Amino acid sequence: MAPPPVLIFTSFFFFFFFIFYQSAPASSLSSSEPGATITLHLRPLTSRNLPSISDQWDEAVVLASFAASSLARAHHLKRPKKVNLSSSTASSQSVNLPLSSHVFGGYTVDLSFGTPPQTMTFLLDTGSSLVWSPCTAHYKCSRCNFPHVGPTKILTFIPRASSTSRLIGCRNPKCQLLFGPTVTSQCPSCGPTSKNCSQICPVYMIQYGSGSTGGLLMSDNLCLPDQTVPNFLFGCSVFSSTQPTGIAGFGRGPESLPAQLGLRKFSYCLLSRKFDDTAETGVLVLDLGSDQKSSDLSYTPFRHNPDISAAAFSEYYYIGLRKILVGGKTVKVPYRYLVPGAEGAGGTIVDSGTTFTFMVPPVFEAVVQEFDRQMGNYSRAKDVEIRSGLRPCYNVSGRSHVGLPALVLLFKGGARMALPPENYFALLRSEVACLTIVSDNVVVSGASGGPSIVLGSFQQQNYYVEYDLKNGRLGFKRQSCK
Ligand SMILES: *[C@@H]1O[C@H](CO)[C@@H](O)[C@H](O)[C@H]1NC(C)=O
Ligand SMILES: *[C@@H]1O[C@H](CO)[C@@H](O)[C@H](O)[C@H]1NC(C)=O
Ligand SMILES: *[C@@H]1O[C@H](CO)[C@@H](O)[C@H](O)[C@H]1NC(C)=O
Ligand SMILES: *[C@@H]1O[C@H](CO)[C@@H](O)[C@H](O)[C@H]1NC(C)=O
Repeated sequence: MAPPPVLIFTSFFFFFFFIFYQSAPASSLSSSEPGATITLHLRPLTSRNLPSISDQWDEAVVLASFAASSLARAHHLKRPKKVNLSSSTASSQSVNLPLSSHVFGGYTVDLSFGTPPQTMTFLLDTGSSLVWSPCTAHYKCSRCNFPHVGPTKILTFIPRASSTSRLIGCRNPKCQLLFGPTVTSQCPSCGPTSKNCSQICPVYMIQYGSGSTGGLLMSDNLCLPDQTVPNFLFGCSVFSSTQPTGIAGFGRGPESLPAQLGLRKFSYCLLSRKFDDTAETGVLVLDLGSDQKSSDLSYTPFRHNPDISAAAFSEYYYIGLRKILVGGKTVKVPYRYLVPGAEGAGGTIVDSGTTFTFMVPPVFEAVVQEFDRQMGNYSRAKDVEIRSGLRPCYNVSGRSHVGLPALVLLFKGGARMALPPENYFALLRSEVACLTIVSDNVVVSGASGGPSIVLGSFQQQNYYVEYDLKNGRLGFKRQSCK
């Protein structure tokens, strides 16, 4: 057994990892140039911008909000809903949806649309596919005050201020990207013979783990550094709930940003949440065709969910997790949880929009049992478990070094992800270490479907992660994301 890694105590620990990227012009790009890559630089929100934490256990409250939003997200990913309303019912703008008001623990990029360009902030999300922005001067966002961030100024896109913005018509093929080919039945005034159909594509309604959004599909220029992509399809959302920003869908659906741009691959490096005030930067790289080889990456193939009736599952990046090792011991996980089965249940997805990794209870309990066995000398801090919504939490007070069992994920093809301890344990006040993986108490039956494991962004920090779309595989390596 390899010696367990050592978690060194740090004096202060921030769990805020909202990042804002600054666009940096990549050298001489044009759409005709093969070998173009676009690099977007990421920068963290530093601790100076954050409200000070006074209450001793406020950290637990922050962790709790991340745990809750990760869980809500997992529930949604397992039972996705894409609601569409007919344009007539949508004009009332009063749609009731379940709400929860949790902080997002996400990563954002800024993107510019229109002529002249308007820049908005988007959550980078590989678990959904539509790109949408808060839109129009009448944009309504309910429950959009995020307690730990302070009032955020939501940047909205103003279509009228762009000379190139267009609403998507009902018979526009782009409308079908989101609504499928049957949408034409919703365009009665747009029969195959009507010459000038003015009916627009129906209103979209999308529900996320926390919150929702709705609006109309538009097309406009997407302005990337030194390059303009015309007629980019995106959502002009006029109402949302619990959304700190718009969302940049990087999922596998045909409306996603990678699909519309025909990216061969994209990659990101997610910053560590341990921020000092130096301007560390991370990056999101869009590869339009350089076919540049990345070195030293471990690869595992993407899989598809065999359940084709559940179209939403086809948006997810499934990967073949084969083994979970805790302190060198293989955790016993029944095969049916590791591979998506006939009803679409099971399997592992990688998701930048989930904060803490989710595991269904049978997998999670087996992992916890193994940690408990190996951490037997530490007592569980039950009160912190209740406050943070995380477990197990171990009382490690009085120790300068804490030996934690190594957590290793083994993937199909032999790719091995040996996580650094700070990617799976959070330390509170030098006293309590909590496992940053969430589960629920609901025993999920096979019928509800969806992934068993969602690999979240907290676990991907300081990894270079490549979505190699051309070759259908995920690559990763440890890297300091500066
Ligand atoms: C949208 O609504 C129409 C009619 O109500 C339905 O046939 C279609 O399947 C729906 N599309 C989606 C994606 O839910
Ligand atoms: C085409 O559009 C014009 C202006 O909107 C309208 O006056 C005309 O009746 C339409 N023609 C048909 C065939 O719908
Ligand atoms: C737990 O404590 C016992 C007795 O103090 C010691 O022998 C053992 O090595 C400890 N185990 C770990 C994993 O620290
Ligand atoms: C951890 O253990 C120490 C010493 O046993 C105790 O004083 C402290 O209250 C415990 N902390 C928590 C959060 O349980």
